[in-house]
Amino acid sequence: MQKSALLKNYNRYPIEFERGNGFFLYDTTGKEYIDFYCGIAVTSFGHNHPTLKAAAIEQINKLWHTSNLFSSSLQESLANKLAGKSGMDYVFFSNSGTEANEAAIKFARKWGNGKSHIISTHGSFHGRSYGSLSATGQYKFWNGFQPLVPGFSHVPYGSLSAIANAITDETTAVIVESIQGEGGVNEPPENYLKGLRDLCSEKNILLIVDEIQTGIGRTGKFYSYQHENIIPDIVSSAKGLANGIPLGATLCSKEVAAVIKPGDHGSTFGGNPVAVAVANKVVELLDDAALDGITSIGNIFMNGLHGLHHSSIKNIRGKGLIIGVEFSDAVQSKQVAAQMLEEGFVVGTAGEHVLRILPPFIITQNEIAKFLLTLKKVISNL
Ligand SMILES: Cc1ncc(COP(=O)(O)O)c(C=O)c1O
Repeated sequence: MQKSALLKNYNRYPIEFERGNGFFLYDTTGKEYIDFYCGIAVTSFGHNHPTLKAAAIEQINKLWHTSNLFSSSLQESLANKLAGKSGMDYVFFSNSGTEANEAAIKFARKWGNGKSHIISTHGSFHGRSYGSLSATGQYKFWNGFQPLVPGFSHVPYGSLSAIANAITDETTAVIVESIQGEGGVNEPPENYLKGLRDLCSEKNILLIVDEIQTGIGRTGKFYSYQHENIIPDIVSSAKGLANGIPLGATLCSKEVAAVIKPGDHGSTFGGNPVAVAVANKVVELLDDAALDGITSIGNIFMNGLHGLHHSSIKNIRGKGLIIGVEFSDAVQSKQVAAQMLEEGFVVGTAGEHVLRILPPFIITQNEIAKFLLTLKKVISNL
């Protein structure tokens, strides 16, 4: 076999997808799969979406790169749309979730005017670059890469008192996911974000909400913090924003924006015209009816999972179309995901015992019913 020069930093399945349409994926042997993972919460409107494809092709034919040295009405339009949807005032565009968080961390420190301490949570995932990795509260991602960026501390997720106790005179911000995705689809107690909002306002520190996995409609609200009717100071967004074309966004309040001057931060590729043209359409597609649809199909899915009543299932959690199924200790989620793949369903994991399900918003009851039957069969046969 020919030696592969591809770096071995991923554990890849020996399956290659070459084509996708809607919620279907096809591998190089022609086998059909139903996509319940969307990349990892990325292709939320499915593959080969006619409106999104047309927007990309139109922009490719016009112009696919300039630089951020010139005006961009496409970026202006998307920034205004995101500001309108989120309650934030300004938007910076990058290329990924990691970069969106990197900008969030830099903005928080600039706003802190010398205060540099940022509080994050155990089990969180914020990215792989040094700032976002230092914010990430999981040792397995740090191992081999220390020392990290100083100034971060990590406290239990879901505990307001833990955050309150960690605040010092040096603290500039708290960063949290509204639901921890990679960490196991962990939902905090109700009103956690509301409590954090109050706490951060009282202590005059910033609340950064990482909506990279939960945002752009995934939980049935445009951003998940809207379930608790709060407005953060900084929001990081990516993944589903351009339905698979790389795009990150860091949204911030006018108070934060006021400290960012030309030259403080930037990106050669950030806010690429093709990505932004597609994202403008994604945001248009994600109207109130679409959000309601995500909530109702998510509820149908949840009810179906609860109806499985299988002894291997320990817990089912999530909101809208981000769902975690936690198995008993004897069941390895990777084994379930591999078996599901064999059966033609693409699904992911979050930790050793949690199956992570991130279906496209266009999924129907019919596919969900097939998924549930197959999941029951797979876990019964383990
Ligand atoms: C909550 C959260 N933050 C940040 C990231 C990093 O995003 P990216 O992989 O696009 O850099 C992820 C990716 O899984 C994520 O789920």
